[in-house]
Amino acid sequence: MILDRLSHVFGLLMTKVAFFSENCSSTLQEDWQKRLSFYNSSIKLVSLLSKEAEDATTALLWKAPLERINELKKLKGLISLGQGVDHILKNNSIPNNIPIVRIVDPFMAKTMSHWVLLSILSFTKDIYGYYDQEMSQIYKPRKEIDFLSVKIGVYGIGAIGSVVLKDLFNLGFNVEGWSRTKKNIKNILCHDGHDGFLRMLKTCNIHVCLLPLTISTANIFNKETFSLMKEGSCFINAGRGNQVVEEDLLEKCQSGHISNAILDVYKQEPLPSNHPFWKQKNIRIWPHVAAETNPETAAKQIANAIKCINEDILPPNIVDRKLGY
Ligand code: NDP
Ligand code: OXD
Repeated sequence: MILDRLSHVFGLLMTKVAFFSENCSSTLQEDWQKRLSFYNSSIKLVSLLSKEAEDATTALLWKAPLERINELKKLKGLISLGQGVDHILKNNSIPNNIPIVRIVDPFMAKTMSHWVLLSILSFTKDIYGYYDQEMSQIYKPRKEIDFLSVKIGVYGIGAIGSVVLKDLFNLGFNVEGWSRTKKNIKNILCHDGHDGFLRMLKTCNIHVCLLPLTISTANIFNKETFSLMKEGSCFINAGRGNQVVEEDLLEKCQSGHISNAILDVYKQEPLPSNHPFWKQKNIRIWPHVAAETNPETAAKQIANAIKCINEDILPPNIVDRKLGY
């Protein structure tokens, strides 16, 4: 009896956080629990789908069944387990007074920077051509593209895009960026607005999309915009699949107008086994791993966001619902 009471009181003292991550294993939840407890021992992760979640004041989510959110009446804030929040904002029934917080982790920005560099080099140094040669034991130099002859356009100059741009610049690449509002970054030409978008499409030969998915960026890469890119351009996408009209990209890759597409994100994930991208040799497929969330580096800011939400203080990195990112 006393033990029951104690555990009830103890339960009340815990900060319950409803947790859901697509394909979540119990080990992933345990890992997050361990990392978050390090910063705040009162945090208790409970499955979003469990009864206990109904006591949660915060939800920590990645691609969750969002209808469940509306059943959690004590909820005061949502935290995205990634930097992108389109997976949450697609449920427009989440009340406006519930802040949506996202991760902004320099570790993820650097990881993305490495992936973008790998993708660029795989294009300029024709890595896949060398793989094929190796399979046939062909020892022969291939025609490579020298890095001074290419111009790289990075779409999105946010927490991730700005790091990617600076890293590429420091490696000697010729880079430009594009964002919604005007940016000033030393040594880097930054475009904004529709005219800026057109300029980057027309003048760059490597296009790197690091945009969030919003009403304004959906289907932004389509037949018309791909046609404006230079013949033989390389298209790299780690933003979101819905920013691309996939049939148009396929057609442009088949014709060779886009000579290489390196993709990490798709309209439907996992990419269906019968999707034509699999068979298109100049489209390279990555399974949404360009910059994965890292519990070790992200836990501190999440623990802080949970604390703020509980104390009715606005945490950093709140999403602007009107802008959609
Ligand atoms: P930020 O919100 O920090 O930056 C977004 C950038 O996009 C800003 O520069 C913003 O402009 C610009 N932007 C937004 N809308 C428009 C528009 N309509 N026209 C022009 N520019 C626009 O986001 P992050 O850098 O943190 O992340 C970007 C995206 O990367 C995420 O939303 C996610 O989709 C994707 N991502 C993918 C990962 C992966 O593994 N594949 C991992 C992590 C993120 P402004 O600066 O003017 O506001
Ligand atoms: C993210 C992602 O948005 O992994 O963080 O795509």
